[in-house]
Amino acid sequence: MRNYANTNVISCGDNILALFEVGLPYKITPELETLGEYNFGGKVQEAMTAHPRFDPKTGELHFFRYSFIAPPYLIYYVANNQGKVVKEVPIDLPEPALLHDFIITENYVIFFHCPLVFNIIKALVGGSPFVWKPEKGTKISLMNRHQGKEINFWLKTESFWMWHFMNAFEDNNQVIIDFPHYPTLILDDNIASVLSNKSSFRRIIVEPTTGKVKQEIIDDRMVDFPIFDQRKTGQPYRFGYMPHVDLELMASKGIPNYFPELIQYNLVNKTSKVHRFKPGNYCGEATFVSRKGGESESDGYVMTFVSNEDTGTSDLVIIDAANFGEEPLAKIHLPVRVPTGFHGNWIST
Ligand SMILES: [Fe+2]
Repeated sequence: MRNYANTNVISCGDNILALFEVGLPYKITPELETLGEYNFGGKVQEAMTAHPRFDPKTGELHFFRYSFIAPPYLIYYVANNQGKVVKEVPIDLPEPALLHDFIITENYVIFFHCPLVFNIIKALVGGSPFVWKPEKGTKISLMNRHQGKEINFWLKTESFWMWHFMNAFEDNNQVIIDFPHYPTLILDDNIASVLSNKSSFRRIIVEPTTGKVKQEIIDDRMVDFPIFDQRKTGQPYRFGYMPHVDLELMASKGIPNYFPELIQYNLVNKTSKVHRFKPGNYCGEATFVSRKGGESESDGYVMTFVSNEDTGTSDLVIIDAANFGEEPLAKIHLPVRVPTGFHGNWIST
């Protein structure tokens, strides 16, 4: 598969890396010039997830790569704050799986293995290579980060799909995991299949000592592209953000990904606020940037590109996290449209 390097962009050590999960990262300059593929000094082969996670306490970068071709189908890596790979753990997956994201907590590395099965025969005849097999269920894995040789256990639960984690953290003997949950996934290349994939925002609570799994619905509006203050990765946190995916608009326009508003979730109080854009304006994934010197999760800025369907241009819109429902603090007008894409990060230079 051609490596588009189009899914996410991070800074790691002295490098800016554009990521695409079935290929190696591409190193780029701050001016967006391409420098070439990057393999962590030969330590990472084939691919790297587009959703690595920085541990805010250690500065380490945690990431993985999956493979459809040959075992090990999953390898977990840790790079230190200089970008040097210091840990590599092959994980024994029974069959290849599309693992788009993962999450870490203080003690665990967490993967959700959903029943979307890769079929090489379907791939060779040119259709979607994936088959949804709900009878297999979804498996939740927790691996102890510090012992870290193999998965500690897989918990089988009812089948569901997920693309992204918001965050996860530990509370007494529980591991709490927040994510947009899809009851099923149809991956055909048409709007009807896109519209059939309806998410809700859920919290799964796992007790590693007993293997018990509980589930709560936080919000049944369709949402995805979760972000939060990354200084809270793996830690208890208060605020998270997602665009509301408007299924009715998508159905009427016949085009996916209409995000007319951003939602701010207060995960402690279990409340939410909405920032709705003017009619005909649609946002993408947001990013949270703390104010210089700001310590609290509400002391900072929520930024997103907002496109206007009439003018064909975009604004970078900057919203005060502490006054989320109010008018933006600033809109930076751009002469072009920034198409709705996947993921991004604010990189201070
Ligand atoms: Fe993603």
